[in-house]
Amino acid sequence: MIKLMKYLLGAVLVLALALLVFLYFTAYDYPMYPLKADKSKFPNVHTEGDVEQLAVDLINQMTIDEKIEQLYGEPITKGAKLGINLLYLNRFPHIYSGRNERLNIPPFVLSDGPRGARVSKDRIGTTNFPVGMSRGASWDVDLESRINEVIAIEMRANGVNYAATPCINLLRHPGWGRAQETYGEDPWLLGELGVAATLAIQKHNVMACPKHFALNSIENSRFVIDVQLDERTLREVYLPHFKKVVQVGNAASLMTAYNKVQGEYASENHHLLTEILRDEWGFKGFLTSDWFFAVYDGVASIKAGLNVEMPFGQQYDNKKLKKALSEGEIQESEIDTLVTETLTTRLKYAFAEDPMEYNQSLIANPESVALSKEAAEKGMVLLKNDDVLPFSQSKNKTIAVIGALADVENTGDHGSSNSLAPYVITPYTGIKNYHSGRGNEVILDNAADLNASKLLAEKADEVILVVGYTYIDEGEYLISTDGATESAKQGKLVGPKVDGGDRENLKLRAEDEAMIEALAGTNTNLVVVYVGGSGIDMSAWDNSVPAILFAWYSGMEGGNALANVLYGEVNPSGKLPFSIAKQESDYPYFTPYAEEITYGYYHGYTLFHKKNIEVAYPFGFGLSYTNYSYSDLNVLSTEVNEDGTLEVQVTVSNTGAMAGEEVVQMYVGFGNSAVDRPVKLLRDFVRVALQPGESQTVTMDVSVQDLAWYNPDAKQWQVEKMSHEVYVGASSAKPDLLKGHFQVK
Ligand code: BGC
Repeated sequence: MIKLMKYLLGAVLVLALALLVFLYFTAYDYPMYPLKADKSKFPNVHTEGDVEQLAVDLINQMTIDEKIEQLYGEPITKGAKLGINLLYLNRFPHIYSGRNERLNIPPFVLSDGPRGARVSKDRIGTTNFPVGMSRGASWDVDLESRINEVIAIEMRANGVNYAATPCINLLRHPGWGRAQETYGEDPWLLGELGVAATLAIQKHNVMACPKHFALNSIENSRFVIDVQLDERTLREVYLPHFKKVVQVGNAASLMTAYNKVQGEYASENHHLLTEILRDEWGFKGFLTSDWFFAVYDGVASIKAGLNVEMPFGQQYDNKKLKKALSEGEIQESEIDTLVTETLTTRLKYAFAEDPMEYNQSLIANPESVALSKEAAEKGMVLLKNDDVLPFSQSKNKTIAVIGALADVENTGDHGSSNSLAPYVITPYTGIKNYHSGRGNEVILDNAADLNASKLLAEKADEVILVVGYTYIDEGEYLISTDGATESAKQGKLVGPKVDGGDRENLKLRAEDEAMIEALAGTNTNLVVVYVGGSGIDMSAWDNSVPAILFAWYSGMEGGNALANVLYGEVNPSGKLPFSIAKQESDYPYFTPYAEEITYGYYHGYTLFHKKNIEVAYPFGFGLSYTNYSYSDLNVLSTEVNEDGTLEVQVTVSNTGAMAGEEVVQMYVGFGNSAVDRPVKLLRDFVRVALQPGESQTVTMDVSVQDLAWYNPDAKQWQVEKMSHEVYVGASSAKPDLLKGHFQVK
């Protein structure tokens, strides 16, 4: 009896303690440490040179333990805090790193944020934007910049100065689970939008951390997969966008990837982290690892040039590294170099003047929410429209909104890019909002019964069928590190089942396909609205429906944006940031369970053009409610030298009846190349607003250096002195393009 009492008392005490820890971390452990340097402590620091010297002086004053503390996120003892903040998703992952009270060094404080600031001090949420792929589809550099300013402002309001965004990994295959976080298949588009995001974030003295460096384009096996590729493919296809965010965007930081590259984990890869990034590109910032399972061999990572292990020092642990020092495996000077790179960058931000003051009243304010709606509208891509859209403005109509996702708050995956929206307008709510006061009836049908839906569709004046995915079907995926090997053999996952991950095939859910088949032909005013993050296989049904709109995960205002597009308040202007193949087998080889994979030189439109494979919907394609015509392509520089710039002009006219915005694209062709090269590559794009009947002359350009190929034997970028083709038009497809020529001398 006494024994039992003892056990009970013990259990009560353990529970009480757990409760106290829980309460402490949920209620209090969100200190808002000052992010700026206390200038009174450093009266002699005025210039950038002074800051650089200060970093050196501070390191000279550090003990070896203090130096090692600069090499990881938080002490592992903070695990409980991280775990509890993980339960409170909108406070995960809040990490304070490198704070040194003795030496007055402020911390860097991290938040995720590809679709909105992830952490929220008071758990009230932040402005929730459409996912990256939607913004990729907008092809709008200025929009991406405005969005990321809001993200940065809301991070600062929550005491954050380090943003684990943007995600600029390349979409090699549409099945990639995290496709939604990035901007598409093309390195140029990725680079331009990545730079816009990076510069905008850093304007508010939040250090941007474009990720994941590099070659992270498969999700389920991300912890183990070894990506093989040749040097040309690496340089020309998978790295140009990272180079651009470093050299043009001046990114303060990059996050390394989980996967291996040519047999070495990305975070231990000297070729990537030091030879290319620092020595060739001149990167001056600091590198953080991806979280938990990215660093395996601390010594190798130190030698490769990884500055900070996240979120804890699992390998960059005080004990382990001091042992490595004492055994001569690493030198203290190597640690000094890594800490100097981190601290110099951080101190520059800590000393910089802020352009404004940041407080909670800035969070999700009406302008930011309106921006989210604008982004959702500009990202939607109209793929097919047989005289269906825009729906009429007439009254006394019945509108059927059908589909299991029609009234679901569906803003994307539940992985690290999740952000808590103060509210979400679903497709149904948006359409209902739009019609309120217009005398129309909007009926929601959750697709529980195919026949009932069919009857409703036959009777309705308009049918909006919402299909697609949720966080269950695609997104970031967590799998045990030893899971992939067995799973590859068995074709199934090992380890705890977590939501998201790669898609094993590109079809919609069977229920969606069945519903499309049932409703096709029931109503001439039918549109299929697709919600998801990447390409799908529509071959079974796209011929049988009159209209298709890609709406993506469109953020907190997505439903309102959708109604505006469907009813012609807004003219659709998005264009596909990837190609959609006619059949899955046309894409490069992909499996979620690969332990090793070879990334070839061609993927996306470069593959389809090279092999002359007809696609279902080309890269850069999207319809509008008006018509645009292209004329008078004028190559301003028919002869350019290697350091020159190609300039072309083209006239774009709105020949229809509705105002709109057109994304004009310029590609350069390499038909005369002496080496194997893509047929053409995107090299400029611009969004033009045109009133009905209006024409504009648009100037586009590219520096000739950006036409170079990487010669792996010479280890050099080389521009070919030859005649190049230049194409300008509405998409990457031949019939949509005007063609000219220029000579590189
Ligand atoms: C993701 C990163 C993210 C980090 C922190 C990782 O699992 O791959 O993109 O920034 O978690 O949440």
